[in-house]
Amino acid sequence: MPSRIVSTLRPTAVNSVLAEVKALQAQGRSIVSLMRGEPDFPTPPHIVAAASEAMAKGRTTYPDNRGEMKLREAVAAKLARDNQASYNPATEVLVTTGATQGLYCALTALVDPGDEVLLPNPVYDAYQSPIRLTGAVPRPVASEFADARFTLSVEALEAALTPATKVLLLNTPWNPVGTVFTTKELAAIGDFVLRHNLTLISDEIYEAITYDGCHHVSPASLTMELKARTVIVNSLSKTYAMTGWRSGYCAAPKPIIDAMFLVLQQSSRGPAMFVQDASTAALSGPQECVAEMQREYSRRRAIVMQGLSGIPGVQPIAPEGGFFVMADTRGLNEPSDQTRQRLLQKHGVVVVHGSAYGSQGEGTLRISFSSGSVLEEGLIRLRNGLLELLP
Ligand SMILES: Cc1ncc(COP(=O)(O)O)c(C=O)c1O
Repeated sequence: MPSRIVSTLRPTAVNSVLAEVKALQAQGRSIVSLMRGEPDFPTPPHIVAAASEAMAKGRTTYPDNRGEMKLREAVAAKLARDNQASYNPATEVLVTTGATQGLYCALTALVDPGDEVLLPNPVYDAYQSPIRLTGAVPRPVASEFADARFTLSVEALEAALTPATKVLLLNTPWNPVGTVFTTKELAAIGDFVLRHNLTLISDEIYEAITYDGCHHVSPASLTMELKARTVIVNSLSKTYAMTGWRSGYCAAPKPIIDAMFLVLQQSSRGPAMFVQDASTAALSGPQECVAEMQREYSRRRAIVMQGLSGIPGVQPIAPEGGFFVMADTRGLNEPSDQTRQRLLQKHGVVVVHGSAYGSQGEGTLRISFSSGSVLEEGLIRLRNGLLELLP
């Protein structure tokens, strides 16, 4: 029998929906997916070449479990270059198997059973279960939606705070709603964190994908005080189209990284050494590939905004960052999961219902434009399906 803690865990929204999709595909149905946050670009060739060379050289043994020193140095150089934050690669950087493991290590290192973790509502659904695995409790923070943008106010953070609150988990750019927090917003959130002696876990995985002059700011770059209370979680998955490589990294003050390293050793030895060598090549090599992908995401974002315009009862929200458009479907007067199921069953197009990301995601659908080849066909199906759902 599963343990009590494990019975509190839930599959991720994507995995639940995928099970429905596979059942339909097994019946021979044609399904187009606008669901996954999975870049469809091949990993840039110089990164693949670095992995091949490393394998050919026999770099196939256990890695340094904290991360190969060359990669930790590349991470520290990247954090200084792109995020204006200085970290010691010997003591303040940990290499992980993707941001997923970074989040798990950070949460396990920072919270005890009964502690509370503040989470924006709505947010990436896969934050819930690793919090529950530690015995801690996810506590939603009400977002505000005004001028086609989701934000988090200090008032809402204060309202969600209890004596048990230990951590605020923030995602900027924010999946699924697309907000890129401004320096001013982050400074106010940072003050809140410091005032209440919390730790900020900052998931920055979509940092490279921003639009319309918005730029990612890491909270760790704001003040030394906030940096001392921040764990940066990041990975190569989205920035370099490396989702399957399972390579990520965290940066934080030494005592936190030491605690996270203890956690990491219990379930992993870190990414394969040749994956780490490829990651070093990605972080320290030419960055033009990142800019190229960014330009293509920008083009696709415009296609989605155009494809969803003029549908009565549906309002697409232009993301400032990431590769998801949230469509406000409150005008359809139907629970988002029901809309999603109808779109899938009748129209063969997969999106994620906003309610999967929290109660405040209700009345929205998340549409991914990370896959370009299916975008046009997916949008035709989505548009037809939404038009048919009109009340
Ligand atoms: C906000 C957010 N954090 C973390 C992850 C997991 O990333 P990784 O592939 O690095 O484990 C995802 C993946 O979709 C994500 O959207």
